[in-house]
Amino acid sequence: MTISSKILILRTVSQVRQWRAKLFSDNQSVGFVPTMGALHAGHCSLVRKSLEENDKTIVSIFVNPSQFAPHEDLDNYPRTLDRDLEILESEFSDKQVDAVFVPKVSEMYPNGISLDIDKQKGAFVNVHGLSEQLEGITRPQFFRGVSTVVTKLLNIVQPTRVYFGQKDAQQCVVINNLVRDLMIPTKVRVVQTVRESNGLAMSSRNEYLSKEMKDRCSIIYKALKEGASLYNENREKGGKVNSSIIIDRIKDIVSQNDEFEIEYVAASHPESLEDVELIEPGVGAIVSCAIKVPKESSTEKARLIDNIILQ
Ligand code: PAJ
Repeated sequence: MTISSKILILRTVSQVRQWRAKLFSDNQSVGFVPTMGALHAGHCSLVRKSLEENDKTIVSIFVNPSQFAPHEDLDNYPRTLDRDLEILESEFSDKQVDAVFVPKVSEMYPNGISLDIDKQKGAFVNVHGLSEQLEGITRPQFFRGVSTVVTKLLNIVQPTRVYFGQKDAQQCVVINNLVRDLMIPTKVRVVQTVRESNGLAMSSRNEYLSKEMKDRCSIIYKALKEGASLYNENREKGGKVNSSIIIDRIKDIVSQNDEFEIEYVAASHPESLEDVELIEPGVGAIVSCAIKVPKESSTEKARLIDNIILQ
């Protein structure tokens, strides 16, 4: 157990259990914010909500291998622990984060973990029916990895409340179902997306982008907002709204920049995540997208996701 200037750093499962046991006996509520680090204002808004709503707050920083496919960016994913701890220590004035859980891969995966799903051994969690569409199309093992690590983390921390960002809309739906179906005694709280002043959703992967590219990427949220305005105009005329006009408008705007590669733009039912052809006012839809954009000084592309909720 390490005590940095203000925050307790826990590195093992048993250290977290010890920390938590005392809070159970003192009847203290615990808020938990799972992250993969490279913290930014989006993560901080989750932490702020947890500080507001709970007696104690714990943040985890763990780049979870099982949610990355072999060809994805696990090795290059930004790891900035010292800066993350500084942010957690300096960002919140009224109340401080109480503990940070920073486990090694071997602590979370005692059997080891291969990125090749056929070579993986042990227990994994899959939320069927909600993990295969949208992000799951190009990242078929992603939500299995997320669901597995979140289950492990919830079992370790046993928080009163756990906090997720609306930016990852499908992740929120998957986790809500996971917690409900596996009877995990934790309340899931979803916090709205934090954006740069130009509208670009904050993301650890924005670190791959040049300043100019970040500006150009602000078109993604502008396109989603245009789609939402089109929905609202049509909704006022009464009746259901055809999702294809919204999706087409968003695609048209994003594809004005020929460096951008649209992976998908979709309108999905807010709970089942099934494609919605006719959006019913009152039920609404999640309109989400994944866009590949050029990385700074590289021929590779970064994959950005964003979404807007239609009511
Ligand atoms: P990570 O990408 O680090 O995100 C951690 C949490 O911060 C997620 O709940 C995410 O939705 C939220 N978040 C990210 N950007 C945000 C923004 N701009 N506004 C509001 N919230 C934002 O998501 C993961 O890590 C992992 O999949 C994890 C759940 C930790 C499992 O490994």
